[in-house]
Amino acid sequence: MVYDIVVYPDRRLKIVSEEVMVFDDNLHMLLDNMYETMIVKNGVGLAAIQIGISKRVLIVNIPIDSDENDAQSQPKDNTLEIINPIITYRSEEMKKFQEGCLSIPGFYEDIERHAMVTIEYQDRYGKKFTIEDDEFLAVALQHEMDHLDGKLFVEKLSYMKRKKFEKEWKKRDK
Ligand code: CO
Repeated sequence: MVYDIVVYPDRRLKIVSEEVMVFDDNLHMLLDNMYETMIVKNGVGLAAIQIGISKRVLIVNIPIDSDENDAQSQPKDNTLEIINPIITYRSEEMKKFQEGCLSIPGFYEDIERHAMVTIEYQDRYGKKFTIEDDEFLAVALQHEMDHLDGKLFVEKLSYMKRKKFEKEWKKRDK
């Protein structure tokens, strides 16, 4: 099932999501539907709050072929299903990557993030894992984890860039 995406400035995007306590069929269905939704909407990541569900659940799937966003370049088996993530290490070194967000469609901007992060999380069965990355996955994880705390990448823009974005966004809203 494909969900509608919650789009900025919907206030639900500001909600701090709640920890998942039960790793049951409902959670698995949610994850499966989130994957379907992400593929249909051409994303590389999705947090549950982006479909209006305030649970600490996110998925990331970095395309094998970086030019394509579809089921072939992002097979389900390659999907990282991340529940209740915690960042246990952040490098001091920062890196800039161009980011976008399914909740802010059509807007892209360079954002500074920690170059490397280590994250502890649970899978769909509640099993604990650690993941470490210093490439685009690290950026995607930081972006999606911000969603769980009600934060969006546009909040990291400079004052001037944010003002420009808000102006442009209002125009296209009409
Ligand atoms: Co996003």
